[in-house]
Amino acid sequence: MSMPTEDTTGFALSPASLARIDELAARYPTKASALMPCLWVIMDELGWVPPGGVDLLVARLDVAPARVHEVLSFYTMFRDTPQAKHTIQVCHNISCHIMGARPLIGHLESRLGVKLGGRTADGLFQLEGVECLGACGMGPCLQLGKHLYENVTPAKADALLDGLRSGIVPRADTDREGVD
Ligand code: FES
Repeated sequence: MSMPTEDTTGFALSPASLARIDELAARYPTKASALMPCLWVIMDELGWVPPGGVDLLVARLDVAPARVHEVLSFYTMFRDTPQAKHTIQVCHNISCHIMGARPLIGHLESRLGVKLGGRTADGLFQLEGVECLGACGMGPCLQLGKHLYENVTPAKADALLDGLRSGIVPRADTDREGVD
């Protein structure tokens, strides 16, 4: 079995993820163009992008550290601090609000036992409100990493939570990796 590769800061990424980053970098005219999908590779393995991950992308994609931090901090689905295992982002902007975001958030708060912005005691779920997920006609919607769920009813939310608790990510309506 191949072992994760660890640097002097303790940052480690599996050989499979490293190979995936190199594969993505080779797909584009400039390696730097693969930055977002490569950030997803690290997110998928670790749930966040630690400083060592930034350094790795700087080296492998020949991109400035400021550029990596810029992208990492601009998009809410990327994280630069340790996270709960699953971060559920629920849109509460106007379209989703009209289509039931508030009752949906209330349902999730009740099921998870936390308020918006809270994290469950077992570290499994973080519940967040976001301003718009770009699917305004399909509200209420929520995002789990790169997975977007549309027209989310309480029953659909329950199925999502039950799936995640069993280690399964239920099929999303849209995946936003942007590659493949
Ligand atoms: Fe909810 Fe745009 S208002 S996705």
